[in-house]
Amino acid sequence: MALLRMEDVTIKFGGLTAVNQVNFDIEKGDLFGLIGPNGAGKTTCFNMITGVYTPTSGKVIFEGNDISGTPPNKIAQVGICRTFQNIRLFGALSALENVMVGAYLRHQTSLFSGFMLSPRAIRETAELRKKSMELLSVVNLADEASSRSSDMSYGKQRRLEIARAMATDPKLILLDEPAAGMNPQEKDELRAVVHRIRDEFEKTVLLIEHDMKFVMNLCEKIVVLDHGEEIAAGGPDEIRSNPKVIEAYLGEPV
Ligand SMILES: Nc1ncnc2c1ncn2[C@@H]1O[C@H](COP(=O)(O)OP(=O)(O)O)[C@@H](O)[C@H]1O
Ligand SMILES: [Mg+2]
Repeated sequence: MALLRMEDVTIKFGGLTAVNQVNFDIEKGDLFGLIGPNGAGKTTCFNMITGVYTPTSGKVIFEGNDISGTPPNKIAQVGICRTFQNIRLFGALSALENVMVGAYLRHQTSLFSGFMLSPRAIRETAELRKKSMELLSVVNLADEASSRSSDMSYGKQRRLEIARAMATDPKLILLDEPAAGMNPQEKDELRAVVHRIRDEFEKTVLLIEHDMKFVMNLCEKIVVLDHGEEIAAGGPDEIRSNPKVIEAYLGEPV
């Protein structure tokens, strides 16, 4: 059984079909790329997977269950977490606090029920702090734990978002243009972090990215969207040499 199945997924906004009958399966452990030109429908797919939008038709199936339209505030409990194309951190909070907020999402029920200062809540907060520190070191930000997140460099903020998403202990992690705006060195560091998340933490990763070198070196399976249509699917070598993909997106072979 696929971890995530997009089954004939279509969404229309008024007269615009943003995503049209898209089908793909993501297996547990995949490092999966979703690519295509601006406006192709990539972020809209993330929005349907995370319940921001409900497909007009078709289904989003996670671990065999139809999760189409499951509200975003319930998606973390299902086992899916994401980062955003435009960074969304709590700028006034420290790096560590940002990760802890992510972890609270998962522990919502126990921590926010009853008194915040109960022995159990204090113990759980200490555990969360420890776990959050560990996640900061996974993304190479242990030294920045007490930095105000808005003071951190762009590349670091992007990695912090990944640590925060990891804090909910998702099975599937969605990254929307994680390398955007990064310099080559930051991209190399990010690639190593994403690999580690999959290999060591056994997460399944779906990422949207425009940097073709980054995608081709990282992802083992790729789906290409263009104007909401799925125009190709396969491994990096197949995608690179696919005439439709070259015409619609790559421009020239990469
Ligand atoms: N809430 C919305 N209302 C109307 N149109 C939308 C909405 N969200 C996305 N779209 C449109 O859907 C298309 C796909 O957008 P998007 O998924 O953001 O593309 P991208 O592949 O660049 O991430 C675009 O034409 C966009 O304008
Ligand atoms: Mg987008």
